[in-house]
Amino acid sequence: MNITKICCIGAGYVGGPTMAIIAQKCPDIKVTVVDLNEERIAQWNNPDVTKIPIYEPGLSEVVSEARGRNLFFSTDVDGAIDEAQMIFISVNTPTKTYGSGKGMAADLKYIELCARQIARVAKDDKIVVEKSTLPVRTAEAIKSILDNTGNGVQFQILSNPEFLAEGTAVEDLLKPDRVLIGGDTTPAGEAAIDALVNIYSKWVDRNNILTTNVWSSELSKLTANAFLAQRVSSINAISELCEKTGADVNEVARAIGMDSRIGSKFLKSSVGFGGSCFQKDILNLVYIAKTFGLREVADYWEQVIIMNDHQKRRFANKIVSTLYNTVADKKICFLGWAFKKDTNDTRESAAIYVASDLVSEQANIAVYDPKVESEQVISDLEYIGVSEKGRDRVKSYGSAYEACDSAHAIAVLTEWDEFKEYDWTLIYKNMQKPAFVFDGRNLLDGKKLTEIGFIYKSIGS
Ligand code: NAD
Ligand code: UGA
Repeated sequence: MNITKICCIGAGYVGGPTMAIIAQKCPDIKVTVVDLNEERIAQWNNPDVTKIPIYEPGLSEVVSEARGRNLFFSTDVDGAIDEAQMIFISVNTPTKTYGSGKGMAADLKYIELCARQIARVAKDDKIVVEKSTLPVRTAEAIKSILDNTGNGVQFQILSNPEFLAEGTAVEDLLKPDRVLIGGDTTPAGEAAIDALVNIYSKWVDRNNILTTNVWSSELSKLTANAFLAQRVSSINAISELCEKTGADVNEVARAIGMDSRIGSKFLKSSVGFGGSCFQKDILNLVYIAKTFGLREVADYWEQVIIMNDHQKRRFANKIVSTLYNTVADKKICFLGWAFKKDTNDTRESAAIYVASDLVSEQANIAVYDPKVESEQVISDLEYIGVSEKGRDRVKSYGSAYEACDSAHAIAVLTEWDEFKEYDWTLIYKNMQKPAFVFDGRNLLDGKKLTEIGFIYKSIGS
């Protein structure tokens, strides 16, 4: 089947960049990205391409090349479904906040709404591609909805999870380690798989396009995120031991990472992993294991989250205990609020939880992040239940120098490159003394800062 029209439901961090790359690499395919959120679509259509809603290095260039040629952003969901031969579902799948599975299971209400809408609108056969991260066997539910509420047309369901990381989305999409496509082993299923393989093979080596059954594909996505997060929690567990023993976690990470069986990536100890997916996907995995009565499996993976929460709290506690057991009315500057560098995404960022802990000790927090607006900082705190009084203690600044002015301490929460380039002598001069740096990312040159006069504390040494 030769695909010439694609639609993607969900214009978020995955739908937007993924479809922009498909449109760039397949100029003969019309790609329409739709969303219910009118403001988001208007931002994607902003004539000033630097104002698109997602900041990712290289993304605005890709969008400006393809937008209006074969890449379109629209709120007309029905129209886009109707004309497409292939429909990607790329909507959010957050952790449930109500009912059974609350706080653990993935909330599939947005997925179900999409399936029902596709079934209602489709007048000819469609390939439906799960791009969102979903619990294993979700395709079964989607298929049942499509077949039972549709207009008698045929649907093929594929699972094509996305492995891009934020901050490197364009690079990851252009050169993926692998593209994973799960589908039925029937002739119609295989034809649908081929149709999607043909699209990716426009720029991805066929050897890197892996095809599996649907359930393996769905479960591989959750497993990949669980393994990645587990490595961060593992090194963070060791960081605490390093602080007690005089070992240095960076040296330990280097030493173990040179073992080719372990590998060097994802061994950077930190104030804790954030982002919209690691925690959500592990909780989902834990929930699935519990559903099948696999208690040991569930407990094993849950520990990754427990360790991560401990690391965030431990960082906040260390700031309080080092600052003579009181931070009340002290000014603490946060360098970074995003969950990692090169993104404006703050979902589940460790900064939010550290700020909440410090505010409950009545500290004043001065935030500087190169890409995060002050309204976002406040709404993140509100989202996790920090009171208005607490939120009033948190202010954002337009530069790090202003944020650090007269501060008692600096906490590095995000590993933005620009932090390394600052005039640290000047920053020191304008701070309260003794001046502390708590480096939650092991980003700065501790020796240099100590020579300037700072008391420097990093994670794991
Ligand atoms: P997001 O919240 O940024 O975007 C989802 C979009 O879907 C929103 O704009 C929302 O308005 C829209 N939407 C929801 N229901 C809709 C409906 N019925 N019709 C039309 N639009 C609708 O989410 P995201 O970060 O892009 O994540 C999407 C999925 O991809 C999740 O399952 C996530 O786990 C997975 N994923 C995310 C990343 C990442 O880096 N963010 C990476 C890999 C996989
Ligand atoms: C992660 C995965 O890397 C992607 O493959 C996956 O597609 C995505 O989740 C998803 O499903 O959403 P992302 O969360 O965007 O991508 O970013 P990562 O680079 O994985 O970082 C996650 C968190 O772990 C960040 O807070 C980061 O600072 C932290 N981290 C990462 C560490 O603390 N140490 C490390 O060594 C690596």
